[in-house]
Amino acid sequence: MAHKLKPFITAEQIAERNQSLGREIAASYDGGTQLVCICVLKGAFLFFADIIRKIDREIEVDFVRLASYGSATSRSEDIVFSKDLEISIEGKDVLVIEDIVDTGHSMDFLLHVLRRRNPKSLKICALIDKQERRQKDVHVEFAGFKLNEGFIVGYGLDYDERYRELDGIYELSTE
Ligand code: IMP
Ligand code: MG
Repeated sequence: MAHKLKPFITAEQIAERNQSLGREIAASYDGGTQLVCICVLKGAFLFFADIIRKIDREIEVDFVRLASYGSATSRSEDIVFSKDLEISIEGKDVLVIEDIVDTGHSMDFLLHVLRRRNPKSLKICALIDKQERRQKDVHVEFAGFKLNEGFIVGYGLDYDERYRELDGIYELSTE
């Protein structure tokens, strides 16, 4: 089946939004504390690389990767780390940077695990906040864009590992 990609958010719009979002993030933290920015692989890798350079303050970076097993509905209980953090987050401000929060199951799992490590604060920044299908009470403090429905690819987001390298974000449909 052929895929049709319809432009949704341009590279220019993303760059502009990252600039203001980065400023908003920097302003919301006390400059004197330690801030750890966590990239949720793989989808957030491009967004992460761009947004951390717009947060004008000292930060630490680390990476996690989640894998879900079992049901396609991805219940939190079926999720595990396939790559854990390498640095301690105890007593630090922590900002989790994710591509999309959709049902909220993966973020809910991640927040539970991270909370047990006693961070000073724990917040979420997501490129896309897809609120319509939310099943878990997960609040995205810093959202790049909001989306109600549809499947999108590009700028890190994939369909079966394809299209991550695209500059902009596209709505994917099959024809
Ligand atoms: P959930 O919040 O646990 O349902 O899962 C969110 C994850 O599903 C995201 O981190 C993405 O990796 C993936 N995802 C959800 N919607 C889309 C989409 O429209 N395009 C690409 N990946 C998506
Ligand atoms: Mg993801």
